[in-house]
Order: sequence, then structure tokens, then C-alpha cells
Amino acid sequence: MYNPQPGDRLESLDTPSMIVDLDLMEANIAKLMGRLLPAGVNIRPHLKTTKSPILARKLIDAGAKGGCVAKLSEAEVMTAGGIEDILITCEVVGPVKVARLVELFRQYPAVKTVIDSEVGASALDAALAESGLKPPLQVLIDVNVGQNRTGVAPGEPALALARHIGGLKYLKLVGVQGYEGHLQHLHDRQEREGKCRAAMAVLSGTADLLRRNGFDIPTVTTGGTGTAEFCATCPGITEVQPGSFIFMDTDYRNAVGRFYSNSLTILATVISKPEPGRAVIDAGLKSLTTDSGFAEPKDLPGVTYVPNGDEHGSLTWQDGPGLAIGDRVEMIPSHIDPTINLHDFYYAHRQGVIEEIWPVATRGKVQ
Ligand SMILES: Cc1ncc(COP(=O)(O)O)c(C=O)c1O
Repeated sequence: MYNPQPGDRLESLDTPSMIVDLDLMEANIAKLMGRLLPAGVNIRPHLKTTKSPILARKLIDAGAKGGCVAKLSEAEVMTAGGIEDILITCEVVGPVKVARLVELFRQYPAVKTVIDSEVGASALDAALAESGLKPPLQVLIDVNVGQNRTGVAPGEPALALARHIGGLKYLKLVGVQGYEGHLQHLHDRQEREGKCRAAMAVLSGTADLLRRNGFDIPTVTTGGTGTAEFCATCPGITEVQPGSFIFMDTDYRNAVGRFYSNSLTILATVISKPEPGRAVIDAGLKSLTTDSGFAEPKDLPGVTYVPNGDEHGSLTWQDGPGLAIGDRVEMIPSHIDPTINLHDFYYAHRQGVIEEIWPVATRGKVQ
């Protein structure tokens, strides 16, 4: 029976398989911690990338404090996996979800969430009141710092929401979140830094406004792989939330460079060679996402990839023998988070020998 185990070599894996180069991954973690911890900020990595309590634990062991998730269903898996200090970075809205959050909070009181509306705050407060739970749920106000996704407008509108939350018995305002997702992939470093610092001034300015009006705002949280190094040294920022740095992808590499390495690839096999200069691999849309461009073959200069539907992809080249049927190639994903969401397991190896196998525990947890 096919049952890969630690100690096996990569050659024993069937394909497509998601593999992680442990030396590169560990170096990425060490680089991030070395770069950001000296600035004195808390590092709360976004676990929407790794989707694994095992990897969250590795990040905590390396210096992170807690983690972020996007969705409530991810929080359920992370807490059950022992990662209890969790911030849900998307609004929890609707009676079904609110009831689930209350149940999660009953078991794991360190769970926190963001809020960007009075309606959302009141609904959570009412459900908590009904639950009979005593301690308040910690919440952060989600502030729009320019991404124009969720988030209340900075300044007075955020203050009005703070006042509303202040009047609710079962919520405790502990901070603000302002995610500048629109800046993460700006290629020009100076432009990225300048715009990031401007967005951070808006966020910390809002935190100060709340403080001047009597609110205790210990946490000001923000940042991703493309901006965390700038956020960490912006006045008033207390916490950063990078996620992709641990594995990277071609989109991030093209934008921010090679400080972090591409440590995760999809191992694929050439299954057909229909014509000179073209080989077909067993990795298509169901193995590699395409929203941020096509994946790239690793260490095969001059060879390019296009998907050929769900299960196939073509690698093409101009000169030389290129690839033969049965060859194996490693594909570097173009967008890491949704690519990981396509796979069941990580096979983590060191120089070709599998050391650990991690389930993608929050795969499909989109609720
Ligand atoms: C709220 C929030 N914080 C942090 C991140 C982490 O970003 P990245 O994976 O680009 O480092 C994301 C990613 O989408 C996010 O939505």
C-alpha cells in the first residue's frame, strides 16, 4: 500500500505532491524573526498560509506570539490543535457564525476577532449575553487604511464604533487592525515603503485618537510579507501579521525579491512528450492556482509552464533535449495560500529525505 513515511526519499512519493525544503523554510523563519523581533513588535503570523497547527507551533517556538486566521472554521482547527492565542482577521457575521464563535470562545477565551460595524458588534454582544459567559470577548476594530476591503474609515468613524463597543457589556476593545493588502506586492521598494508608512500613520493616528478619548488600545496590528519590515519600525505599531514569507511564491518573489526563498514546490512527473520542445506534466489547475500567473519550474531555465486543464500542464522549451517521459520537476507556485489549499499533506524533506509529514489541517476551512 502507498504510505510515504519519514525516512523515505522524495523519489518514493507519488505525484503531484506538495514538498517543503526544510532548510529553506527554517532559514525563512530565522530571517523573519531576525529582521522583526529586534524592532520590539509582536509577531503574529497569518496562518491562512500554512493551515497547520504544527507549523504554527514551529513559528511560536521561533519567537511568534499566537497567530492570525482569516476564518472562524480555521480558528476552530487551530485551537483544537493547541494554538489558542488566535486573532480572526475577518468579520464574524450572521447568526450561525456568531453562535459558533460563542462556542469557540467558551472553550478558548484567548480567541479574538475584528469588528467593523455597530450591527456586527451588537449581534456578538447579544449572543454572548445569552450564552451566560461572564468574561468579555476581546475585539479589535478593523480600520480601512486604503485596501478598501473591510474596515471602518479611520478617525471619527472608528471612534464612533469604539464608543458603541464601549457601551457593550460582553465585548472588550483591545486594539485596532489595519491591513494594507493593496501595498504588499508593489514592486518598487521605495514606493511600497512610502505608502506603507503613510498607511501606518493613519492606523496609529486612529489608535491615538481612541486613546485620547479614554480607550485603552494596547494592540495595533497590521502588515504582511511585503511590508512587515516597514510596519515594524513605524511608530505606534505593536504587532505584524506576515504569512507567505515561510514558503513564498513567484508573485511575492517578483515583487519583493529573494530575501526569503521559495521553500515549497509541487513535485510533478512528465507523463507525455507529444512533440519536440514540449512535455506534459501531471499538474494542472487542481494542483497549482493561476490567479497570480502560472507556476514556474524550479531550476529549469528556459522552460515555461502553462496549465492544460485540471490535471495537465505543458512545459515548453526552445533548445536542447529538455525533459523526458518519467522525469520529475518541481513547480514553484505563483500564489501560495490557495495552492496549499489544493493539497492534503506537506512532505517536508532535508536534502531529499522526508523528515516530517504535516496534514493541511485547515484545508477547505472557508467558513
Ligand atoms: C488581514 C491579513 N493580515 C496579514 C496577511 C498576510 O499576508 P501575506 O501572506 O501576504 O504575508 C493577510 C493576507 O491576506 C491578511 O488578509
